[in-house]
Amino acid sequence: MNKINDFLFLSASPNQQASHAYRFADALLKTLGERHPAMSVNRRDLAANPLPPLSAAYGAALTKRTPFDDPAFRQSEQLIDELEQSRHLLIATPMHNFTVPATLKLWIDHVLRIGRSFSSGPEGKVGLLADRPTYIIVSSGGFHHGPQARQPDCLSDYLKLVLRTIGIGNTHFVYLQGLVGGAEAVSSAFSSARQQLSQTPLFATVEPESTPSVPSA
Ligand SMILES: Cc1cc2nc3c(=O)[nH]c(=O)nc-3n(C[C@H](O)[C@H](O)[C@H](O)COP(=O)(O)O)c2cc1C
Repeated sequence: MNKINDFLFLSASPNQQASHAYRFADALLKTLGERHPAMSVNRRDLAANPLPPLSAAYGAALTKRTPFDDPAFRQSEQLIDELEQSRHLLIATPMHNFTVPATLKLWIDHVLRIGRSFSSGPEGKVGLLADRPTYIIVSSGGFHHGPQARQPDCLSDYLKLVLRTIGIGNTHFVYLQGLVGGAEAVSSAFSSARQQLSQTPLFATVEPESTPSVPSA
């Protein structure tokens, strides 16, 4: 029997562990880990360890009643198993050209699988995985929410739809915006993100100063 983890932590920035989103999410996990020392985290860095591109065999297997143990589904099965074995999902992702980066899109294409992670019928697509609290930390060079917004956000609704398709509706987005603006802008982005995080159920009972502060590089 496979081990159940408290968190699956997916990170998607090409900046890997130097990414602002990664560092914010990692600090969040450290804060939670101090409160719950037995907490277990499965980490998958989608930039450091890129997933293989989709194969023709995968595409063909999707359109037939192919058994789950078919070799064409090996990567997909592994990623879906990781989700099934996690109580919470944490995603740290940059915004690339208004939406998710290619690394995360590839994860989506391996995980959204008809007949496995969702079904499709007259009622539309229905998720087959259990819902779980999901936190998404989104970093961006500019602003897409609030009075300074100068661009659309095609990431949040898209990712919400993707996750809802597989059964995950309990989603909370936290935005680290305006990161191109230098150290002061980064500091302000982190304090705004801490404020957003403190309003989520995960931290509802935690005093704001316990939410992650700007982690040192
Ligand atoms: C290919 C590419 C596309 C980007 N597109 C956007 C964008 O549409 N909007 C935006 O605000 N920032 C955009 N950026 C800036 C990144 O969002 C920003 O550098 C990133 O959030 C840094 O996050 P990290 O420190 O977590 O890696 C883009 C960066 C790259 C490399």
